[in-house]
This record gives sequence, C-alpha cells and structure tokens, in this order.
Amino acid sequence: PGSLTSIHDISLDGITRLLALTNRLVAEPHRERVKHLDGRKVALLFYESSTRTRTSFELAAKSLGAMTTLVSDKSSSIEKGESLHDTGVTLRALGAECIILRSNYSGAPEVLARSTGLPVLNAGDGMHEHPSQALLDLRTMLVRLGLSQQLTPTTMAGKTVVITGDIRHSRVARSNAILLPKLGARVIFCGPPELCPKEALDLSHGVEIERDFEKALQQADVAMMLRIQRERLAGLDIDSAEYIAGYQLNEQRLRAHAPKALVMHPGPMVRGLEIDSAAADGPQSAIEEQVAHGLAVRMALLHRALLGETNA
Ligand code: CP
Repeated sequence: PGSLTSIHDISLDGITRLLALTNRLVAEPHRERVKHLDGRKVALLFYESSTRTRTSFELAAKSLGAMTTLVSDKSSSIEKGESLHDTGVTLRALGAECIILRSNYSGAPEVLARSTGLPVLNAGDGMHEHPSQALLDLRTMLVRLGLSQQLTPTTMAGKTVVITGDIRHSRVARSNAILLPKLGARVIFCGPPELCPKEALDLSHGVEIERDFEKALQQADVAMMLRIQRERLAGLDIDSAEYIAGYQLNEQRLRAHAPKALVMHPGPMVRGLEIDSAAADGPQSAIEEQVAHGLAVRMALLHRALLGETNA
C-alpha cells in the first residue's frame, strides 16, 4: 500500500485526491507542513544518475519533516555486487519506511516492494515507467490549459499531446501514454522509425504515430519533447544533423506550426538537438514549471506512501 511502481497503480479518483492533497500541502505554511512526516525515514536508492527526480523527492521529503538518506550505486556496496534485495532489506533494517528507487531494470520497483514490504516510489525504471513524471506532467498541463483537477474520462477531451523524439527508450512517454488517454486526451507519438518503431511500441491505449513532425505540431495543444537517450541506443547511430532537420523543436517551427502549443520537456534537455533555446525558454514553455510541479506532486506521493490515503 502506498507504493507507486506504475501509473496503473493509481486510479483517476486516486489522482484527483492526490492533486487535491498536493494543492493543500503547497498552500500550507512551512511550520505546519514539516509536522506531517516529522521524524519519518525515507531512503533514496539511485542506480542511475538523476538531477530533477532525486533532488525533488529529497526536498519533498524534507519539506514534510522526514529524514532522508541517499544510496547511489557509485558510492555504496552496490559497487561490490550487493543485490537489490539485500540493499533494500538493509535500508529497512536501518529504519527506512519508504524507498524511492531509480533503476536501470524494468520492474525493479515491484521486486523491491515485494522484498521489503515497504512502500516503493518508482523514480524511473529502465525503459518501463516514470509514473511520478507523468503525474507532474499532468498537473502542469491541467494548470496551463486551465482544466479541472477533478478528473474524469473527459477532462482532456479535445486536447492533443504530441510526444516527439526517442519514444523507444522513453519511460516518460510510456507512463504518459497510459495516463493521458484515460482522461480523453489524444496522444500522438512522433519520431523517425528507429526511435519510434511502430512494431515495438505499445499502442493499445489508442496512441497514434505521425512521422511528419510539422503535421503533428499543427495538431498539438501540448508539444512534449524528449531527449535522445544515447546511453540506451546500444550501437544505433542517429545522425544529429538529419534529426535536427526533421524533428528539432525550434523557434521557426513553433511560430509556423504551433504558435499556441504548450512546450514541455521532462529534462535533461540537450539544447541544440531536440529543442533550441528559443523554444525551451520562450513564453510557450512550461519546462521550469514542470520541475516545480515535480516537487509539489512528490510531497503528496510521500504523504500518501507514509500516511495512507485516509489521512490525506
Ligand atoms: N525528468 C527526469 O527524470 O530527470 P532526471 O533524470 O534529472 O531525474
């Protein structure tokens, strides 16, 4: 209970309650907020590098009064070959009551939750899912598009979210593609066949594929750009100049094809490749807001994990 290993773990009603809790926690004065998890212990277990997710979970936990400890593969006994199971059980023996896990293995959060019996929050597992990212992306879209946070299957009806780039390796694309159609949004994946291969993607949630980026942009209420994950390409060679010509979100394309679309990116960005600075920093961009929503939503996820929904 309280885990979030996949976006499947939480219903629309559950997300509505989570967003309401997020709003309440954000509005609370600091002296009240730190009482929620006063003295509770949260472990951050990171087998892959991270800036946004790690820092925002850590600051979220501390904002609620919890103590945190970070275990990373670079400076722990993981380097000596200690297993996920043994690492989790060790953290539990040290008093951890919740573990936030980033792993390069798809499914590792479920394994850790079973091993430890503790609530586990998935901070990104391999090419599988990044559910807290999908939730912070959702809050960003609802706020910027002026939509109700009382979620129903039609909350995002009539809205099109175009997700462009390295879909094949993207856990962010996968979690968003599961979540957004449940709210009635149309989701379009866009990219060249090697990064957006029709045969290798799960399109069961009604997701469409459009290869022509400009055609996709013309339909977009939200243009979500993704980084090419060179660390996961395994020998696949992507020609940067060709990619920029076909798929970079830049000032000219934005002005010509999507002058009103919200620009999003989960980060980290490679400026000059999938997005240029004018698009990333311009008035249509919600990229910095996404980061701030991440801190807010992760406070609520920790509250839910450690205090349960009944105390929410
Ligand atoms: N969006 C995201 O997961 O960023 P980090 O890898 O920096 O955590």
